[in-house]
Formats: sequence, structure tokens, C-alpha cells
Amino acid sequence: MEKRRLGTNGPELPVVGLGTSKTLEIADDNGVAEDLIDTALDQGVVVFDTSPMYGRAEEILARGLGSRRGEAFVATKIWTPSPEEGRRWFAQVLEWYGGYIDLLQIHNLVAWREHLPMLEQAKEEGKIGMIGATHWQAAAFGELEEVMRTGRISQIQVPYNPGEREVEERILPLAEELGLGVILMRPLAAGGLMGREPTAEDLEPLEEFGVTTWSQALIKWGLSDPRCHVSIPATSKPERIAENVAAGSGPWFGPEERAHVSRLAGF
Ligand SMILES: NC(=O)c1ccc[n+]([C@@H]2O[C@H](COP(=O)([O-])OP(=O)(O)OC[C@H]3O[C@@H](n4cnc5c(N)ncnc54)[C@H](OP(=O)(O)O)[C@@H]3O)[C@@H](O)[C@H]2O)c1
Repeated sequence: MEKRRLGTNGPELPVVGLGTSKTLEIADDNGVAEDLIDTALDQGVVVFDTSPMYGRAEEILARGLGSRRGEAFVATKIWTPSPEEGRRWFAQVLEWYGGYIDLLQIHNLVAWREHLPMLEQAKEEGKIGMIGATHWQAAAFGELEEVMRTGRISQIQVPYNPGEREVEERILPLAEELGLGVILMRPLAAGGLMGREPTAEDLEPLEEFGVTTWSQALIKWGLSDPRCHVSIPATSKPERIAENVAAGSGPWFGPEERAHVSRLAGF
């Protein structure tokens, strides 16, 4: 899998990671969470994205990584309006993840002004590698820009797929200008685009790009924008990891192939 640097000062990371929203709890309920995480690590996945918003996902991920914690780049999120609750939560995740969080993102920008001082101190103390911010709604991108311009974060996480392209207007150019790392969420539109699976004939022009399935076409669509560094498709099924990871190697799509995938997706 190809590696890209997560922003000017970030580490080099394989471009396909693993999201955990809803899917990791489903995998756990099906008794395959540990298999899912092991399979991902074995296939070269390093970035695991989670959040206290995803039910038990943070805890399941920590348990699933177990002694392989050091092989992972753990990205979680602070998600509470209360700085006090944020401190309590942070103490808990530090315990789960061996005293270190590789990337701590402010989820949906909730109370970002209040949380930043605590996060900056934790970074100084070597408990956090990078500080970032996320939002999933275009209506919040004005505020996200404001946070990006403070110079206090070095990464953002935003939605990007053929049906959600608002980040192209200002967010991706600004991230590039500021040298921020960019993680793509919702590469399959939370599965919403998977229902539009095209025919094998429609996918044929993408074969020379190593793409043989619809999920690969969509993941490669996002990663073919060089301003994006890591895509985090989520799955509850260990057998789907290899398929998704295969989209993380070149050759990358040009404008023509991206337009073809957008058309197939109905946009
Ligand atoms: N910060 C935020 O506000 C925010 C918001 C949304 C998401 N996120 C992060 O971004 C991650 C990804 O976004 P997402 O989970 O919303 O959506 P996604 O990754 O776009 O789509 C996940 C869905 O696609 C299905 N899927 C995955 N691989 C597949 C394949 N090869 N073939 C067919 N179906 C496949 C999964 O179902 P199966 O389980 O059946 O495979 C799952 O339902 C999240 O998990 C989370 O970590 C962050």
C-alpha cells in the first residue's frame, strides 16, 4: 500500500485506514472484532479511527489491538461540551491505549476553544502525537476554517466522496496551503453509494488502475486527489478488508476516471 505524509510535519502512513463508526460494535456483536482488527493490521492498515461517539468502539478497538497497539496509529476524538468530562474521558483512553494517542481530533468541533488548552498540554507532555479537528457537515466548514487558521491543529478529517464534494471549494485548498494532514471520512457515503453498484462493463475502464470492485472505485476516487492523505472506509466484515486496502496503491485516477466514477455514482 502507498504511504503519504499526514501533513507537513505528520508521519508517513499507509493511505487506507479503518473507520469504526457502528461497524466495530457490529463486528463485536458477531464475534469477529478481533479478527477484523488483526486482518486489518496483517493487510497493512495502520490508521484506526474511532470516537467516544461510536458507542463501545474505542474500548473494543483497544482490546482488539492488544499487544499489537504499537503497530497502529490510533486516531480518536474528544466529544463533550464539558472540559471536565473531557479530562475524565482522556484519562480513560490513555489507560486503554498504553498512555499515548497518536492523533486526538476535536469531534464535530464541539467546545474546541475549551478543549484546546488541555490537548496542547497533553501534547507537550508526550501523551498526544497530533491534534486535529473533524466535521461531517458542510454548514460547519466556515468554523472549521477558523480552527484551521489558528495554527493550533495539524490535521483535519472531512467527508469526501462523489456525492459530497464541498471540501473542494475551500477546505482542501486551505489544508494544502497550511500543510495540514487530511483524513477522508465517509468514502462510501456510509454505505449509501454501495447500493448503486455498476455493471462489470462499467468498471472495465478502471481495471488498468487495479480497480475491480465498486468499493475500490469509490475509495480510489478520494485518494486520487493528492491533497488527501488517508481514507478510512469502515467495515464490520474481515473479508472486506483486503478488497478495500487494494484501492490504496497506484496508479491513481486522472480527471477522466474520476468523472467516470462520479457518473456511475449518479452525480
Ligand atoms: N468525525 C465525524 O464526524 C465522522 C462522521 C462520519 C464518519 N467518520 C469516520 O469515518 C469512517 C468512515 O465513514 P462511515 O463509517 O460513515 O462510512 P463509509 O466508510 O463510507 O461506509 C461504511 C459502510 O460501507 C460498507 N462497506 C465497507 N466496505 C465495503 C465493501 N467492500 N463492500 C460493500 N460494502 C462495504 C460497510 O458495511 P459492512 O460493515 O457490511 O461492510 C458500512 O456500512 C467512520 O467509521 C468514522 O471512523 C467520522
